[in-house]
Amino acid sequence: MLVVNGYSERWLRQGFPWVYPNEVAGGSAPLGAVVQLRSVAGEPLGTAIADDGWIRARRFRADAGPIDGALIHARLASALTLRRALGLVGPDACYRLANGENDDLPGVRVDVWGASAVVSLDSPSLLALVPALVAATVALTGVGAVHVGWRPDSRDARVWPPPPGLVHGEDAGPAVVVDPPPGPGVRSLRYRVDVGAKKDVGLFPDQRDNRSWLASHYRGAADSGVRVLNLFCYTGAFSVHALAHGAREVVSVDLSRPYLDRLDENLALNALPAPGQTHERIEDDAIKVLDRFRRQGRVFDRIILDPPGHSHSGGTDWSGEQDYARLVAAAARVCAPGGWIIASSNLGSVSPRQFHGALIDGLRKAECQGRVIHTGGQAPDFPAALHFPEGSFLKFVVLEVAHAPPRATATPVPAGPVKPGRKP
Ligand SMILES: C[S@@+](CC[C@H](N)C(=O)[O-])C[C@H]1O[C@@H](n2cnc3c(N)ncnc32)[C@H](O)[C@@H]1O
Repeated sequence: MLVVNGYSERWLRQGFPWVYPNEVAGGSAPLGAVVQLRSVAGEPLGTAIADDGWIRARRFRADAGPIDGALIHARLASALTLRRALGLVGPDACYRLANGENDDLPGVRVDVWGASAVVSLDSPSLLALVPALVAATVALTGVGAVHVGWRPDSRDARVWPPPPGLVHGEDAGPAVVVDPPPGPGVRSLRYRVDVGAKKDVGLFPDQRDNRSWLASHYRGAADSGVRVLNLFCYTGAFSVHALAHGAREVVSVDLSRPYLDRLDENLALNALPAPGQTHERIEDDAIKVLDRFRRQGRVFDRIILDPPGHSHSGGTDWSGEQDYARLVAAAARVCAPGGWIIASSNLGSVSPRQFHGALIDGLRKAECQGRVIHTGGQAPDFPAALHFPEGSFLKFVVLEVAHAPPRATATPVPAGPVKPGRKP
């Protein structure tokens, strides 16, 4: 049994499933043990799996029942019902079947990649769930192979054992999946994924709806196709999408040659670029490329910024908390008049408000103005439970950039009658 303090009790009663180490007021339980949670007053607060890292316990149910195969099957079945309702389930489809805390499976993510699935666990404490997770995933989705990997948090200082890897079926090697189910006017596109890879499967389905929103905006007003700069391009999903939907010129930048090679494969899978289109790949640091383009006077109509939270490669350090404004400023300097900066951050530690602050700072540094013309978030197979603030992680903002003087120095608007209006 674990006794939790009043603060944790309040959060548990609202549905938040984690107990932190400093919230434990008594009791004990070893890593991986199924444990009953109690308030200081002795009231039952549910059944959890104990851990010994930066989280002390994950609650799987609010009553005293077991955490067994029937519970796991029921949770995954309910998760699948939502993905079916979203129209995401189909042959060769890729989607997130279970999104951890947001699907009442704390610490557990299940991704389906065509005929295979990957179970990602946030802690070795959850290993005992693997047989039930595999059985339910196979029974519900019909996948032929299941891999199990770790998803360690940067706050976790423990040394982890090797991940279980392939636990069901045969490794089918690299596969081709289809993303998305297309919306109106959106082409269905194919990507190579490497399901057995430790972490780089090769596609981020959480950006699916943002890619789709952009699809109708690559032809440009004159229908001749826009110039796109895709920074931190990874395996190129945004680049493939831009070319598939009419961009004239796409430049893709990443520090990693293997990822750029996979981008080339993804272009080839979709017979891109088409005649009349160009694609250029650049293996370099994104900020260095932006500075070089500024010196060359090269400009773009759509600049996609989707950096990692943090990186330390190629002799450069990147921090999504510290460096975003600098990145936006450098991008604004190569943005054509009326062009768009398409900015994403997947850092849960950065709130939407802080993210907007970085966009404002960046545009101010570049002496530009901007207007938000669209905001998006993670695709709906990455639902965010209302009681779990960490569930909303992806911020996506499309800014129209104007190289105009700041409003304070613009010609004053003549005073006139005040119109009654509605504030948004
Ligand atoms: C979050 S992924 C981008 C995902 C991609 N936009 C997509 O939708 O598939 C981050 C990528 O940034 C690259 N990267 C990290 N630091 C970089 C840097 N300083 N300059 C350029 N690319 C960098 C990594 O190699 C990785 O491919």
